[in-house]
Amino acid sequence: MKINGVPYRSIWLNKNAWSADIIDQTRLPHEFVVKTLQSMQDAAEAISTMRVRGAPLIGATAAYGVALAMREDASDSNLQLACETLLATRPTAVNLRWALARIQPDLAETSSGARVERAYALAAEICDEDVVINYDIGRHALTVIRELWQKKPAGSEAFHILTHCNAGWLATVDWGTALSAIYQAWDDGIPVHVWVDETRPRNQGAALTAWELLSHGIPHDVIVDNAGGHLMQHGQVDMCITGTDRTARNGDVCNKIGTYLKALAAHDNGVPFYVALPGPTIDWQMDDGVKGIPIERREALEVTHVSGKNAAGKVDSVQITPDGVSACNYAFDVTPARLVTGLFTERGVCAASEAGLLSLYPEYGDMDK
Ligand code: MRU
Repeated sequence: MKINGVPYRSIWLNKNAWSADIIDQTRLPHEFVVKTLQSMQDAAEAISTMRVRGAPLIGATAAYGVALAMREDASDSNLQLACETLLATRPTAVNLRWALARIQPDLAETSSGARVERAYALAAEICDEDVVINYDIGRHALTVIRELWQKKPAGSEAFHILTHCNAGWLATVDWGTALSAIYQAWDDGIPVHVWVDETRPRNQGAALTAWELLSHGIPHDVIVDNAGGHLMQHGQVDMCITGTDRTARNGDVCNKIGTYLKALAAHDNGVPFYVALPGPTIDWQMDDGVKGIPIERREALEVTHVSGKNAAGKVDSVQITPDGVSACNYAFDVTPARLVTGLFTERGVCAASEAGLLSLYPEYGDMDK
């Protein structure tokens, strides 16, 4: 995607050809800062502090983290240590585990002399594949959006899509998942308008999704997290599209906290609720998402404080709760498959169910769980 006319990915190889550059997402939307990751520890820190975030981008950053580790020490023990350290950074998005499970055995079978080169090749491969996958997700989603738009009464001025968190190009290597659908609908001439959930506590919607949509010139309004139900009751939402950090084999989808409540409201109001995901976000070993997906708990400070630009134009953090208050911060929730109208994947659109997923990914039918 472009920033001020310049094409960017969310992670790329530095021109020195060994370190990895990222857009520091903790500084957006008020500052655009590129940070260079020079070690595996830098990559782990970037993931855990959410300088990079979003399921696919976490996986891609971990891949570069392994490459950086191999550059320092390509031994078996360091490969093991790097994979364990990176895996421990965030628990919910399965793309992290997926990327490491793809890289670790491959490197283990590569001679230590060839490991560095191989690790960088694998990281680049994961990034390039992610771009193609996300483009294809949007392409398939477009058919559904177009159909829904064509069903709206003649003379309708806009097609209103509600989204939660940031499932845009910042959350992936490029394009995004839910926002790939929105970008492609807009580019196809559908007059999209987006309701952007602010997405407390970290406000990925207000800060990142709004920033992306502004850059792309797509009409949108940021709304407080609790507004969605009201808008749906009054016919102001034509469709919801979110991303997911882990989709279970049974079609349950885990995404940013608050997604479940949007799905309940959508169900109650007959609003189609779609989830966009790349294949690597499916956890084929997880039979029941509600029961099994590990939900990240983050520090209370994210709830008690908000950060933003003050009247003097400086980025600052303020406390919104009484001193000494106790706060609880679950970062994700799981929406049961029964509330999901369908899944947008790179292979097509399917029902949120094991049968639906297997119709697109039949190679997982016989796997041992
Ligand atoms: O905590 P975050 O910001 O990493 O959460 C991100 C999300 O919940 C996204 O919706 C999800 O990763 C899918 S994005 C392609």
